[in-house]
Amino acid sequence: MARNPLVMGNWKMNHTRAKTREWCRSMNEHLGEQQLPDRIGLGLAPPFTALDVAAEQAGPRLIIAAQNVHWETSGAFTGEVSAEMLREAGCHMVIIGHSERRHVFGENDERISRKVAAAAEAGLVPILCVGETEDQRDSGRTEAVIEEQLRRGLERRRFDDPHGLVVAYEPVWAIGTGRTATAQQAQEAHSFLRNVLASATGTAVADGVRLLYGGSVKPANAAELAGMPDVDGFLVGGASLEADSLMAIARAFEAS
Ligand code: PGA
Repeated sequence: MARNPLVMGNWKMNHTRAKTREWCRSMNEHLGEQQLPDRIGLGLAPPFTALDVAAEQAGPRLIIAAQNVHWETSGAFTGEVSAEMLREAGCHMVIIGHSERRHVFGENDERISRKVAAAAEAGLVPILCVGETEDQRDSGRTEAVIEEQLRRGLERRRFDDPHGLVVAYEPVWAIGTGRTATAQQAQEAHSFLRNVLASATGTAVADGVRLLYGGSVKPANAAELAGMPDVDGFLVGGASLEADSLMAIARAFEAS
């Protein structure tokens, strides 16, 4: 099945509302001038405080995503935000289980699977992140780790529509370090994840789910990664903070 590429910027805890306005203005200009082919999806995940600004300013071409969500619909959960609130703020997708959530904030697969189910229930597309640490890779456990994260993440929700789910492979050792996985390493992990996905959802769904690579993607390394058959897009941190570089990265899929 042909999969349309998807390139998402993850701003993490960066950019104010004012900077978000500026970024959107610049991106809208790029989109006007460069005419990124419609089949290439492009979006951003700003902090919660800038979601509504992004949704208003970004124009129809950009997909708005949140960086986290709580699994309950409402209640006494100080500091948390529900899927319905995200929808209301203009989100269509939400990043779940990012390695910073797992490793800095102690999120586990159990919570991640609740979030995936709650997001999908509310009509948001979860971008479920998986990835091994350097130690896990060095000790030959990459496949076992990412298989477990993917299976557990999906255990509370069945996906019948390939457009209802996105999976991001983000090796922890490549995030924010300037060390990118080689195109070969990314392809191996993605092809493995697609097989795991097929055993969970069936081949027809797994063939249509976009698998994004994340970890120090930049304009200079995007084309080689984009050329891999199972790399269907990117989740971009640092290089998404400027509209120019996210656009340059998205254009890497023009040739694929
Ligand atoms: P990076 O971050 O592009 O800055 O490595 C990617 C991510 O954390 O999603």
